[in-house]
Amino acid sequence: MDSDDPLPASARWLPPDAFHGQRAFVTGGGTGLGLEISRGLAALGAHVTIASRSTEHHAGFLEEATRKGWSAEAVVLDVREDPEVRSRLQEFVNRHGGIDLLVNNAAGNFVCPAERLSHNAWRAVLGIVLDGTFSCSKYAGRHMIAAGGGAMLNVVATYAWTGMPGVVHSASAKAGVLAMTRTLAAEWAQHGVRVNAIAPGPFHSEGAQGNLWPDPAVEQRMRAKVPMGRFGNTDEVAAQCLHLLSGASEYVTGECLVIDGGLSLAPGRMWEPGERLQRRRRTSEESAAEDSTGESAS
Ligand code: HXC
Ligand code: NAP
Repeated sequence: MDSDDPLPASARWLPPDAFHGQRAFVTGGGTGLGLEISRGLAALGAHVTIASRSTEHHAGFLEEATRKGWSAEAVVLDVREDPEVRSRLQEFVNRHGGIDLLVNNAAGNFVCPAERLSHNAWRAVLGIVLDGTFSCSKYAGRHMIAAGGGAMLNVVATYAWTGMPGVVHSASAKAGVLAMTRTLAAEWAQHGVRVNAIAPGPFHSEGAQGNLWPDPAVEQRMRAKVPMGRFGNTDEVAAQCLHLLSGASEYVTGECLVIDGGLSLAPGRMWEPGERLQRRRRTSEESAAEDSTGESAS
């Protein structure tokens, strides 16, 4: 055990026992944002099960958990397969006695003009993002309702409400997940189950870079649009997820927190940051014309 290691950056803002004894299931928890959320939860005392298709993606988290003495495991799961989701969550509850936290983070995405998107391509993304989130929520929700409470966190994107050319599959699916977040929050509040979402702007992850901005020029163009002048880091996005899942947010449900460095406030800005705009002064000819006619020449 390597107990001297500092906490993961995402976990610095909450007390060390924030999730002590809680049981968490994180889809896509072996890479990118899901990995940072999993590391943060485990470091703050939760048992964490990560669930996704590839065991290669599980190895890093499991190795770190062993080194740091975290309670962790991984299960192979394709969230598009509803019966598989049901079985994996039932096995989780059998092993751990219940489930307190669910993070619906798994996603698939790529850029493709809508008119060229095949039915299979549409289904692949809708299946992971919309169907997968619902299956996980439904089966985890049943256990949480029976136990008297729990917290869920869904990951959407700001284009769920703005739309975004090139990603009609993902935008449509994320819009559905946002509606699901609000609906389940209202439906399950009486059972003590909170359901929230985050909507990040672009942040660094291999999956996003490989599928969405493989070309550095595209990344540079996107970055230039962010008022803060940079992409997010996974740990600063994960920190907000931990906060929404924690007791600090006990009275928050149905909320969607935007984490985008201000991008959605200035999506297509007209003026560049720092640009000085001065009112145009009248030329002497314009002033003379106005003096002689009494009318403004401009
Ligand atoms: C067009 C494509 C395509 C592409 C796949 N397809 N990639 N079509 N352009 N780039 C089509 C295939 O041809 C096939 O259709 C169908 O999609 C299914 O493809 P498979 O490869 O069989 O699917 P599968 O193995 O299930 O893989 C799922 C995947 C893949 C979604 C296609 O990209 C994936 O696993 N992604 C996970 C990682 C990821 O995407 N992370 C990014 C998250 S970032 P046909 O018709 O040929 O059978 C994010 C938000 C970013 O979500 C927001 C930024 C602001
Ligand atoms: P990522 O590392 O590619 O994460 C995607 C994860 O989903 C992977 O761990 C993958 O694991 C898992 N996954 C994919 N298909 C699955 C399936 N069918 N069943 C189970 N798991 C599956 O990308 P990320 O950038 O961290 O994305 C995390 C979340 O943030 C996603 O919801 C994404 O939409 C959202 N988001 C990202 C950005 C960004 O800029 N990066 C912006 C806004 C929102 P396996 O391959 O092992 O299955």
